[in-house]
Amino acid sequence: MRNIYFDEGSSCFCIETRNTSYRIGITDGLYVGHLFYGAKIPDTDLSYKTAYAPPMDPIKQARDLCVFMDCFRFEYPGWGTGDSREGALCARYKDGTTRVNLLYKGYAISSSKAPVPGLPATYAAEGEVETLRIDLEDPDTKLAVSLYYSAFTECDVIARRAEVKNNGSEEVELERVLSAVLDMPARDMHGRPFELLTFHGTWAREFTREIRPIGHGTTGVAAICGKSGNRAQNFLGLVSPGITQDCGEVYGLQLLYSGNFSSKVEKSPNEEIRVSMGIHPEGFLWKLAPGEVFYSPEAVMTYSENGLGTMSRNFHDLYRAHLIRGKYKDIERPILINNWEATYFDFDTDKLLSIARQAKECGIEMLVVDDGWFGVRNDDNTSLGDWVVNEKKLPGGLSRLGAELKAMGMKFGIWVEPEMVSPDSDLFRAHPDWAISIPGREPARSRNQLVLDISRKDVRDYLIDALSAVLGSTEIAYVKWDMNRHLSDLYSAQLPSSRQGELLHRFALGIYDLQERLLTSFPDLLLENCSSGGARFDPGMLYYSPQIWTSDDTDAYERIRIQEGAATLYPLSALGAHVSICPNHVTGRTVPFMTRGHVALAGTFGYELDITKLSDEEHDMIRRQVKLFHRFHELIRTGDYYRMDAFRDTGFYDCYGVASKDKSEMLLTMIHVMNQPCAPNRTIHIRGLDPKKYYRIEVVSDSSEKEEKKDETICRAYGATLEKAGLTLPCRYGDFQSLLYHITEIKK
Ligand code: DGJ
Repeated sequence: MRNIYFDEGSSCFCIETRNTSYRIGITDGLYVGHLFYGAKIPDTDLSYKTAYAPPMDPIKQARDLCVFMDCFRFEYPGWGTGDSREGALCARYKDGTTRVNLLYKGYAISSSKAPVPGLPATYAAEGEVETLRIDLEDPDTKLAVSLYYSAFTECDVIARRAEVKNNGSEEVELERVLSAVLDMPARDMHGRPFELLTFHGTWAREFTREIRPIGHGTTGVAAICGKSGNRAQNFLGLVSPGITQDCGEVYGLQLLYSGNFSSKVEKSPNEEIRVSMGIHPEGFLWKLAPGEVFYSPEAVMTYSENGLGTMSRNFHDLYRAHLIRGKYKDIERPILINNWEATYFDFDTDKLLSIARQAKECGIEMLVVDDGWFGVRNDDNTSLGDWVVNEKKLPGGLSRLGAELKAMGMKFGIWVEPEMVSPDSDLFRAHPDWAISIPGREPARSRNQLVLDISRKDVRDYLIDALSAVLGSTEIAYVKWDMNRHLSDLYSAQLPSSRQGELLHRFALGIYDLQERLLTSFPDLLLENCSSGGARFDPGMLYYSPQIWTSDDTDAYERIRIQEGAATLYPLSALGAHVSICPNHVTGRTVPFMTRGHVALAGTFGYELDITKLSDEEHDMIRRQVKLFHRFHELIRTGDYYRMDAFRDTGFYDCYGVASKDKSEMLLTMIHVMNQPCAPNRTIHIRGLDPKKYYRIEVVSDSSEKEEKKDETICRAYGATLEKAGLTLPCRYGDFQSLLYHITEIKK
């Protein structure tokens, strides 16, 4: 069955996914309007909605065209036509005029999805996904837009983007090119005003969830720091009031982009909203010569009438199957130990090898050498850009360390921060103009470093050569790609003054080009992106790295909330999560060792502590945790995520589960976060199981190699019973106590 088609009779484009429908209409053969997006509907002809929605017929009553433009639900509004809401495309022509009047020209439907030049994008095999292209053009200036819609039917996701082409004869300046606009009613199916769901944060406090009413005017989240940042996720959700995991409507939109973004909702006086998402227009200016094309980043959208849980699982499925690439997409990732919190800059080969030896003995598979192995970097004031090993710390270089690790049976990973340069570095002394800064003015430093102008090909070529030399010097299985400041003092020595507004987007294209080239040369590399923790955790980066460091806050208590936020959008397999030492270096808090392990299991899983300083008992606990990882990793990486209860809501416990796709098993994690006397009710209604299947629930034992312990069966019941009657969690004494339950299908 076709999932995208054009209904000639009603001039209506229909896009279908498994549970959603999207309708686009053409009014008077000219205006491309949004008719519907939401739950699956049977009708294709929704032209009655255009007849009703605008208060007039634009052709017959031309004297009031402005009123029509101001009310019509546009699929992609140009600016300056009488529509007083925010436009998706703003342009300035040679003569200083700015009107962009986008009218319908034609369409094409294909059974494939093409990549987006230079940008990350969802992908699918030929025939797996259909794509609709709608062409618009301004008849006066010949500025043209092609809108692309691809239907990922199984995930209930529609991917959208825009291409702007200058078919005119003069150069045009693009001041704003958004990726997606949704003009829709401000109320849900039950007449309740939609609310806005966003995630904000800062360093060590990423992914904080917020739901707020949508008032008249414009509200939203944005990044203007040159990267997607930690201040907000480039995500926007419209949710029914009181949204829960499985009740209420939700529209979720995410932008596959790692630079400045804007995600907004504008509520107009007629109780309609315009949702918009794309590159942030502030500081953006792109010159488009005749014949040239500008590609917007891709936005992905999903809708569910059954709460947030479905939205999360739709995004997870899309990202795992159609965004993440490479060798590690579908296989177990190595358990790593990172030396950052263990040693910071104070290490040498002997120290690293002693960590690796003990780690190996506990079942850990890879040593990651973090910041400080290159140049003369003994603190964070120097050497970024000089990607040459510090032989004083590591005599014999990376090749000796690599050889010793290999002999030990350990993989080797390394930290880099390629986009940065220290003013105190050979690279900066040789090429001061390679840093982004304004000639003659002192630039703002952050962590005493400047940002390299990776919009320049010569800078990128240098970095690729330098990184290739590092990666070629020994067997390196993993790279942690860090980025520890945002952009300021914008100026590129290589762009003419009239093109300085292109720097930020060219910077984003530069990071994509760098990572693509590196992965092409080293296809087996496991890349983990990072930016002072989770300050560039976005779906654009997931196209290059299957995992991203979630936060520098490794306190398991904090991670419960941070990972709950992150897992609302991203699969657990993408969330960098480590067990670290207590008292925690960021918060000073102490959480039991086993709970730290259980929390890190809901992520990529690894360690970040000086394992040589731990007790025998703690080493034994690591062995137990490693065993748990091997037992459950496949399920966690590939399964469906169900959030049962959040500590954010309950105030004392947190509970989530991962069910296998065939619903034959689930791993349920319960963390009794803050103890409360007189046992408040803690009944978990377990969702995600098959109501008709019969299950056994066992408390997972933490047996080690040395000591085998059996899981303890606590009950047997149908999935329906576990959902409706629920499971009452036991009281635990003390704070931060966790339990894992393994729920497996059995024959009755
Ligand atoms: C910030 C990262 O988030 C940390 O994990 C660590 O790699 C430091 N940078 C090193 O400078």
